[in-house]
Parts: sequence; structure tokens; C-alpha cells
Amino acid sequence: MKTLLITGANRGIGLEFCKQYAAAGWRVLACCRNPGKADALNKLAASYPDLIKPHALTVTDHAQIEQLTRTLADETIDLLINNAGVYPAADKLGFGHTDYVEWMAAFNINTMAPLKMVEAFVQQIARSELKLIVTITSQMGSVDDNSSGGSYLYRSSKAAANMVVKSLAVDLKEKGITSVAFNPGWVKTDMGGPNAMITVEQSVSDMRKVIASLTLTDTGKFIGNDRLVIPW
Ligand SMILES: NC(=O)c1ccc[n+]([C@@H]2O[C@H](COP(=O)([O-])OP(=O)(O)OC[C@H]3O[C@@H](n4cnc5c(N)ncnc54)[C@H](OP(=O)(O)O)[C@@H]3O)[C@@H](O)[C@H]2O)c1
Repeated sequence: MKTLLITGANRGIGLEFCKQYAAAGWRVLACCRNPGKADALNKLAASYPDLIKPHALTVTDHAQIEQLTRTLADETIDLLINNAGVYPAADKLGFGHTDYVEWMAAFNINTMAPLKMVEAFVQQIARSELKLIVTITSQMGSVDDNSSGGSYLYRSSKAAANMVVKSLAVDLKEKGITSVAFNPGWVKTDMGGPNAMITVEQSVSDMRKVIASLTLTDTGKFIGNDRLVIPW
């Protein structure tokens, strides 16, 4: 049986990953900030009591990440999905309204947490069968694709996350670990909003197909939910 460890599992894309992997028979270690208030996740976990285990995790709390890795010391983790993320409110106000404190918070969540998660769980990943790390970044983190400007906080934190993914690919290749950055598409979630192009079910279903096809030859790629490689 395969095991998924995922952050931001209580809503949006993270919750849908939990649904679809549990339905496929995977064990799901579902991390979210406040399991006591994660009603949708708890309801889902009640439907799969042997498969889905919610765990409390605020991804900026490195001590809590280290505690969780001790709690899960005996696990093997086939797939880590770094999913938790924020689109800072200040980005909606545009140039001239940059909130530098909020920018630092976005870096903590979008950029630093994915690396900390890998540093904490690399042993459990390395001894698994699949050895996969998927970090959900964004097409908005592509320098090449930026033709509309703005969104300094989100774009820069996701572009930096892409660089984290690439260095992980180089550093962990000898352990047989595949590290990729993923763009989920523009998805109807709290973050993506109601005008987004695709449903969360479609995005996750597409990403699962791509994830199932990944091998070590894909490590270090920035991939879309359509499996096309995205220019950095
Ligand atoms: N939706 C899109 O169109 C789109 C496009 C490109 C990339 N993405 C990326 O896809 C990922 C998921 O996005 P989404 O659309 O599902 O967003 P969402 O609906 O806003 O959900 C964000 C998730 O991240 C969690 N999170 C935020 N800060 C956290 C922290 N400090 N510690 C732990 N969890 C935290 C949230 O938990 P709480 O409920 O506790 O806040 C929530 O579970 C993000 O990385 C996002 O940047 C989304």
C-alpha cells in the first residue's frame, strides 16, 4: 500500500488530493493547521478510517514539523505533496502597496516550508517504493511566462520555490528521489476563485495521472497538469 503525506489538506486542492488518493486505496497522512476545525477533512477521514489520518501541522512551525517527523518515524512516504500555500492579500493592491511583512510570511509558507518538509522527511521518502516529492508552485512563478507583471509577493515566493525544487532534484538524485514543481492550472478554490478555468476534481485528477507517470528522468522539471513542461 502506498502512502501520501500532504500539507494544507483541509480544503481546496489538498482536500481533493486526500479524497482521490484514499479512493485509490492509498494511506493518506493529511496535515492541516487545525484538525479540530477541519470538518470536511474529518468527514472524509471518517469514511476511510483505516486510510486517512489527520495530523496538526502549521508549515511555518519548524518545531512542529520536527515533532511530526518523530511521530511518523516508522512510516515510509511514497509521495510528499507540498501543497499548503498563500496568495497574499497585498498582491491584489498592486505596485506601491507592497506589504513587506506579508511578503516574508508568504516566503515562509510558499518557499521555506517545502524545503523544511523535505529536510524533515527525506529518510521516510528515501526508503519508500516511489520516492516522489511534488511541490505545488504556480505558473505565476515562471519568470519566462510573466507578461502581466504585479503579484510581486506570490510570484517571487513561487519562483523561489521552483529553485528549491530544482536544487532538491540535484541533491537527492543519488538517493533515487524525484523532485518536481507542479502548476495545478487555474483552479476553482478559495484561492483560485469562482472564475477559474477548471474544477478542483479535474485539476487533481489530471495531476494524479501525471504523478503516476513520473520517473527519475523527470526530476527537476516544472510541469503543468497537462504534463507539458513549463519554462522557468
Ligand atoms: N487555485 C489555483 O488556481 C492555484 C493555481 C496555482 C497554484 N496554486 C497552488 O496550489 C496550492 C493549493 O491552493 P488552493 O487553491 O487549494 O488554495 P486554498 O483553497 O486557499 O487552500 C490553501 C491551503 O493551504 C493551507 N495553508 C495556508 N497557510 C498555511 C500554513 N501556514 N500552514 C499550513 N497550512 C497552510 C490552508 O490552510 P487553512 O485553511 O488553515 O488556511 C489551506 O489548506 C497552493 O500552494 C497554491 O499556491 C493554486
